[in-house]
Order: sequence, then structure tokens, then C-alpha cells
Amino acid sequence: MVVENNVALQPYNSFGIAARAQHLVRVHAESDVTQLLSSPDGPSRPPDAPVFVLGGGSNLVITGDIKALVLKVEIPGRRLIEASDKGWLVEGGAGENWHGFVAWTLDQGWPGLENLALIPGSVGASPVQNIGAYGVELQDRFHSLDAIDLQTGQPFTLDAAQCGFGYRDSVFKHVPASDKGFGLAGRALITRVRFWLPKPWKPVLGYLDLERKMTETGIHAPDARQIFDWVVAIRRAKLPDPAVIGNAGSFFKNPTVTPEQCADIIARDPKVVHYPMPDGSIKLAAGWLIDACGWKGKSVGNAGVYEKQALVLVNRGGSAHPCTGGEVMTLAKAIQTSVYERFGIRLEPEPVVV
Ligand code: EPU
Repeated sequence: MVVENNVALQPYNSFGIAARAQHLVRVHAESDVTQLLSSPDGPSRPPDAPVFVLGGGSNLVITGDIKALVLKVEIPGRRLIEASDKGWLVEGGAGENWHGFVAWTLDQGWPGLENLALIPGSVGASPVQNIGAYGVELQDRFHSLDAIDLQTGQPFTLDAAQCGFGYRDSVFKHVPASDKGFGLAGRALITRVRFWLPKPWKPVLGYLDLERKMTETGIHAPDARQIFDWVVAIRRAKLPDPAVIGNAGSFFKNPTVTPEQCADIIARDPKVVHYPMPDGSIKLAAGWLIDACGWKGKSVGNAGVYEKQALVLVNRGGSAHPCTGGEVMTLAKAIQTSVYERFGIRLEPEPVVV
């Protein structure tokens, strides 16, 4: 295990923001973390450095150089643990690229993750965000995960209930002793994640964009590979590829309101995109709200609002003149203010700001 100093983080965050880590360690195996923690002041670790766990960097806004010791998770591995007439149990190392992992499961003939194709990021970060798209959330396919407690160095395993999944939320996003009573933010380094892909496979086709694909192509009973291809095509058409235009996916969560609040908004803006939720609340499309406030294509410095999807903030300066984290956050705050002034709704950012 080697501590690298003054490491450029631009290649490691999907926004492409230029910042540096004072110290960075690449974690290839569980033993790297235990070794590091067992020598807190040893030659391998800067004394008393707090740690920051860096996964795929696809849900991150960096606002300055990182002083904490960055643990860059690069744990590899893909394996089938169990196959039965009830389903497949598969495991990915936290450092595996998410889309590569999804494609691999399909290549092996194990369907179930196809709706989550092309989401940027790593396998280890997927439960933190409880990533979701086109009618499927990670929690629908999650089995369990292994992690290491960064305070004690002890490994532990969590099942789905213990992860406290919610919409783009989990126990990993809450500080210890938070309102949820149990938080692991800054405390856990996820090392491996297991997914349960049940048999018989059932397609999830309820999302409007997928219904459109069925109508367009005339294919009404697609297999998992077909759904994977459709999701890839839909995302490519709507969302910027971080390899070309830096971004962190949806910048805000879709807010939920009461039916009364929604009726109030509809009275003023009949076109507001809204979806009734099973618990009686109504989810609004944040992208629509931002778009309605006229933000598409606007910029603060080199941070901008994507022309094809107002929910996505982008780096317009590329790698040569990247936006700063400060520009991204100034733009985000201006959007929040204008959506609040017009609709009375407070948008909550999705990415981690560091
Ligand atoms: N809309 C507009 N203008 C815009 C953007 C959206 O009018 O600029 C409207 C669309 O026409 C549509 C509605 O808003 O009627 C919803 O848009 P879309 O279907 O693109 O989905 P979304 O709610 O904006 C969510 C997730 C995405 C996920 C898609 C598909 C969140 C915050 N975002 O976006 O997740 O891929 O649904 O399931 O839940 C991510 O989290 O990074 C992400 C990309």
C-alpha cells in the first residue's frame, strides 16, 4: 500500500472539476484498509488524517483541495455465488464499473439489472445513492453488502433492511445518530455488494420512455437484452455522457408534495409533471420545475444547465477550463431560489459536496 501525495482528482470525478488530494491511497483489497487503520500514525498514513472514501466520483462536487486522506476504492471482482430455481446471487467488488457489471450479468444470462444500464459510477457507490432508473431501484435487486468500519477496522455485513434504503437515500448518507437513529456517513467503506436476481425474470416496462420504445418498435415482449439496449439509447439521447461533458447525473431529487400543494401548483401551472405515489403523496419532476423557470442552457461561469435535461448541471469548460465546484454550487443555489420563489418548493441536491 502506497500513499500518493498531491494527486490530481480531475480524472476521478465525473464533473471533471480540477482539485487535488493531499494524500491518496488506492484500496485494492480489504486488507489495504485494515493495514492502514492498524498503523494510524505509521509511515503509511499521515498522522491524524480524517479519511474520505472516493468511489466512482460520479455523484460528487469538489469545492477545493481535499485535505482528508482519500481512500480510492478499486476493489475488483465479479462472481456468481449461487444459482437455483429461484434466482441468481451475484457479487461485485466495490471498484467495479457499474455499467460494466450490469452488462456482464446480462452476458452471463442473468437478467434483472437491465433497467439500470449506463448509470455512471461504481458498484460500491450504488447502494449509497440507492441508484434508480426506468422503474427499478437498486433496493429492488439488492441482497447484502460487506463493508469495513473506518473507526474500528472491523468488517461487517448489512442486509437490505439495515441499509435503510429510501429514494436516492440510504444509511450511508446520514451521519451517526441522525434523525434516522442509525447513520454510517463517513464511517463505512463498502467493499463488496451482492444482488439477488429472481427467477422467473419479469420485465419492468411501466416507465413512459420504455412504453414509447415498445410502440415505436412494435416489440411488446422484449427480453432483458432489448430493454438494456433501449435504456442505453434513451439515456444517450437525454443525458450527457460524462466522458464528453462533465456532470453528476440528476443534480436534484424529484420533490414530493401533498395532494393539496400539487392542486395549488396545477391551478397555476396545469402542465406540471406529477406522479401519484403509493403513500398518497405526489412526486413532481424537478427537471420540469427547473425548465419552467427558464434555466435550460443558462450558466454561471463554466457551470451550466444541460440543454436537453434541466435536472443535469454540466461542466462547459471541458478538461482545459473546467468549472469550479463553487460555480456549480452558485448555479445550484440560484436554481433552488428561483424554483422556491415560483413554486414554493425546496429542491434537495443529490450529489455529495466536499
Ligand atoms: N422534463 C422537462 N424538462 C426538463 C427535464 C424533464 O419538462 O428539462 C420533464 C420530462 O419531459 C418528463 C419529466 O420531466 O415528463 C421527467 O423527466 P425524465 O423522464 O427525464 O426523468 P427525471 O425524473 O428527470 C429521473 C431520475 C434519473 C433517471 C430517470 C429515469 C431523479 C432525480 N432522476 O429523472 O436519474 O435516469 O428518472 O428513471 O430521480 C440520476 O439520478 O442521476 C438520474 C439520471
